[in-house]
Amino acid sequence: MDIISSSSDYEKIYRASIENPERFWDEVARDFVWHRPWDKVLKWDFHKPELAWFLGGKLNITENILDRHLPQRANQTALIWEPNQPSEAPRHITYAELKREVCRVGNLLRKNGIRKGDRVCIYMPMVPELVYAVLGCARIGAVHSVVFAGFSSGSLIDRINDCGCRLVLTADGAFRGDKKIELKSVVDDALMNCPTVEKVIVLERTGSKPAMKAGRDSWWHEEIWDMDDHCEPEIMDSEDLLFILYTSGSTGKPKGMVHTCGGYMVYTNYTFRTVFQYQEGQVFWCTADVGWITGHSYIIYGPLSAGATTLLFEGIPSYPDFGRFWQVIERHRVNLFYTAPTAIRSLEQAPLSFVERHDLSSLKVLGTVGEPINEEAWHWYDKNIGKGNCPIVDTWWQTETGGAMISPIAGVTVTKPSYATLPLPGVQPALMDDHGKEIKGAGEGRLALKFPWPSMSRTIYGNHKRFRETYFSTFPGMYFTGDGCRRDGEGYYRITGRVDDIIIVSGHNLGTAEIESAIDEHSSVCESAVVGFPHDIKGQGVYAFVICYNKPEEEDKLRAEIRDTVSKIIGPIAKPDKIQFVSGLPKTRSGKIMRRILRKVAEGESANLGDVTTLLDPGVVEEIKRGALH
Ligand code: WT7
Repeated sequence: MDIISSSSDYEKIYRASIENPERFWDEVARDFVWHRPWDKVLKWDFHKPELAWFLGGKLNITENILDRHLPQRANQTALIWEPNQPSEAPRHITYAELKREVCRVGNLLRKNGIRKGDRVCIYMPMVPELVYAVLGCARIGAVHSVVFAGFSSGSLIDRINDCGCRLVLTADGAFRGDKKIELKSVVDDALMNCPTVEKVIVLERTGSKPAMKAGRDSWWHEEIWDMDDHCEPEIMDSEDLLFILYTSGSTGKPKGMVHTCGGYMVYTNYTFRTVFQYQEGQVFWCTADVGWITGHSYIIYGPLSAGATTLLFEGIPSYPDFGRFWQVIERHRVNLFYTAPTAIRSLEQAPLSFVERHDLSSLKVLGTVGEPINEEAWHWYDKNIGKGNCPIVDTWWQTETGGAMISPIAGVTVTKPSYATLPLPGVQPALMDDHGKEIKGAGEGRLALKFPWPSMSRTIYGNHKRFRETYFSTFPGMYFTGDGCRRDGEGYYRITGRVDDIIIVSGHNLGTAEIESAIDEHSSVCESAVVGFPHDIKGQGVYAFVICYNKPEEEDKLRAEIRDTVSKIIGPIAKPDKIQFVSGLPKTRSGKIMRRILRKVAEGESANLGDVTTLLDPGVVEEIKRGALH
């Protein structure tokens, strides 16, 4: 189907997609290779909830990424890999090579007894083999569960056990700026508590020579070398699982969001081509980690299914200096660049000379994702990176949605700083007021979605009840996003941030309950409460109120220990920025912590706490106000 390329197209196609979504997606889905066409486009019921797209259709997503693009793209670069160290040579992997490598991994998995439906945990650095691993699973119908390599063993244990992974693909270590991270030893720690894992295959990346457990562990290079280049794709049903990806929830336990083959393929491909207005031959760079949904959808599946050249970057924006992103753009003549507001804000702090010494003239479109972008950062990005010539697409979406939902279409939608602008075709947002009534026209409320789209999560792995309660019970008959949102007079949407107990720190979604339970693991801690507070670079920071069994003698030492505990249990991204020791927490008579009050204190607005009359002990509030850290 033709992609929208003007604002009149947008209006026409959007309207058609809403009037008859099934006809719309039916047409989009015809662009792919199916072994058997679908019998029915959509079956849904948001009350149950039940969701299925392209029912009865048979496909393999890797055939749509690899086989479909051969032979005409055999020598086109599919993947550009830029290593952490600028002195290490980048690699260019063609579509023909990518197919070979994916097939070899597919065969390796099969040789290790992995079959359709088995779960495979991938805990790897940002190297080409990570992409081979993901697609190798998809080739044979194994369900991949990628865990961000910045998570520590506690998080890995939860994620492996929740879905019962049989095999782990990992590496000896990872390079991250000037640091070396011992990934394999994190896996070893975790596996003491993961009875379902039978095999571990270890890629050599840093040369750190980890211990290898006989019978369980083997080296990637020793296993892969004699694998065949040909691997028969497993024919999957549209609704068979493609992957599980964990995201934080309002309780301590992460939610394994389930994505299925057909709808996810159709939607990530369609939104990639539409939002970025991808043109044949362009180089696309999404700076996210493959451990997050952004990396799944817009490093791997969207761009590669569109036959694009996608860039995979192993490093970080500040190493060896703050010009690293701009150097990579220049080096690989990147055309479409997609990053997070937190990265923009941190790079904005560096002298402009880091930008100016690089030729950014290849850039055509800029994108942002993961959190609201403040107007100031938007303008900096527009002026200094886009040189006023590149449309900025501020894409709003979630792990649960699989692909971009509310977003400008590059060069088509008139942008407005800090607004994600308009819904993409097929997306039907609703603003809801506090009484659960839909707000019409301009207004502010909570964001819900009234109609399904192909890449929406089908369930939470092993817990459909939690899926229903989390997303479909707040506004019966609708999907609730957890976000607050404003709509202006032109129908433009501006996401204002989470309205639940999730905070977004440097673009990473963290559950406050999860951080609290990690803090509580410290032997001196009795109870804690975590809230977000505005942070110049991270967007939100983590503010922890902590009650200890005994009044701490050396507060800073204890703070360091608590931060370390959180880092060990969840990962460094969850470390509290501020820790205030308190003797009590503001609770209602029924024992519920009044987070509203803590949020105000953390935001530095304690003069303005609102109603505190329902508190059990209003005295603690005075103490908390006096001790606030600013
Ligand atoms: C939450 C989802 C989408 C992939 C990365 C994050 C926030 C996301 C935007 C945006 C304002 C945004 C929302 C959302 N968010 N994009 N463009 N403007 N907020 O996926 O980890 O599942 O987080 O990120 O609060 O609910 P995620």
